[in-house]
Amino acid sequence: MIENHIKEGAVLTKYVISGGNPLHGEVEISGAKNAAVAILPAALLVDGVCRIENVPNISDVTMILGILRDLGAEVRMINPTTVELDCSHVYKQNVPYELARQIRASYYLIGALLGRFGRAEVPPPGGCDLGVRPIDQHLKGFYAMGAEIQVENGFIYAASPTGRLHGAQIYLDVVSVGATMNILLAAALADGLTVIENAAKEPHIVDLANFLNSMGARIKGAGTDIIRITGGRELHGSNYTIIPDQIETGTLMIAAAATGGDVVITGAIPTHMESLSAKLLEMGVYVSEDDDRIHVRSEGNLRAVNIKTQVYPGFPTDLQQPMTSLLTIANGSSIVTETIYEARFKYIEELRRMGANIRVIDRTAIVDGVDRLIGAPVTATDLRAGASMIVAGLMADGVTEVSGVKYIMRGYEDIDKKLIGLGAHIERSVKMGGL
Ligand code: EPZ
Repeated sequence: MIENHIKEGAVLTKYVISGGNPLHGEVEISGAKNAAVAILPAALLVDGVCRIENVPNISDVTMILGILRDLGAEVRMINPTTVELDCSHVYKQNVPYELARQIRASYYLIGALLGRFGRAEVPPPGGCDLGVRPIDQHLKGFYAMGAEIQVENGFIYAASPTGRLHGAQIYLDVVSVGATMNILLAAALADGLTVIENAAKEPHIVDLANFLNSMGARIKGAGTDIIRITGGRELHGSNYTIIPDQIETGTLMIAAAATGGDVVITGAIPTHMESLSAKLLEMGVYVSEDDDRIHVRSEGNLRAVNIKTQVYPGFPTDLQQPMTSLLTIANGSSIVTETIYEARFKYIEELRRMGANIRVIDRTAIVDGVDRLIGAPVTATDLRAGASMIVAGLMADGVTEVSGVKYIMRGYEDIDKKLIGLGAHIERSVKMGGL
């Protein structure tokens, strides 16, 4: 799967972007990261083979597959985006610290291992530094389903005294994507009915539920705030194709608008993009959609708008960062309010170094539009901050060197190649490994 290494010993460290080139042409979206990192662990629930297609070729997926292999799963890469998983001979229920800490989604191994084996030993997850990211709602769900939970010496120990979980009524105090997904994984095999209230409704929740149902699970209501899971019977292997990535789609839509480009995005799901499309239209960007294509065109001279991140179907928090880059050159002042995370504005310091005029007060950024950004060396501090730096580099005058490419490769498959295919001038800067 994905490697940072361009050739033996070389490590990709920077993207060097020469800005000011309008993007034009067609680009196809890859599979959804936040669906894949839950769907792949779901294969643990069956004593059989699952074939998953449209898996994004990104490092978060490589990490999840590494964890599954470590547990004893057979992982066969059919091609870079198709994988066959056979979890019939999984013999471990403990995930090594060094593997789990690399990504946020390692927490899905708790729900899947608990669901299949009635026990799990998993370190707390890693993931982007966006402030405190507790998993109390995940643990609340597992506890309600009969698991006893201990958190000690850096591990989460979860086990059901009977070896099986039972159905429960679970109300999420916080609308949590991860907790909703994790409880789905644990409930699919649990005895009886589980009801999740105040559930998250993101497209990747529906994708996981559809995959579990294709394995014989009985899940109703995914995509609404009440999900009912009737467990208690064995599941079987399945073939499944992951939905396109909502956040990659949005990032490319924003990049097209930011460069005054004319781009058709294919293999997308327009209904997943409504909150962003509406905002781009409000700014004066041309957006039209049909079936699985979204056409985005801009002649510049964009209006400032206000953004407030919300749970789906509201404006996605994961698009807050690239969208703010676009807002730096809009006419007037835009107000960006981040309601999901307490620390998702660290990247703004980097935008200021490129000439952006932004003030941050608590969870609000006030973006006063400027004529243009100026290229500069900048660093991605997390995955979507990396997207923000790329968008800023594409629209800036001069050259922008984006460091921290390892974060970007966690969630975007070949983003530089896709942008180069649309006319962007991006080079990869490498250094020999270990130097
Ligand atoms: C998922 O994170 C995504 N990651 C994030 O995407 C995304 O930003 C987030 O959902 C919101 O859409 C993956 O799917 C791997 P949450 P997750 O649980 O599950 C609080 C990206 O860039 N909370 O919906 O961690 C939490 O602190 C990444 O692809 C609790 O308080 O998000 C946050 O403030 C970044 N207790 C809010 O809820 C809990 O038990 C939303 O978190 C769980 C969450």
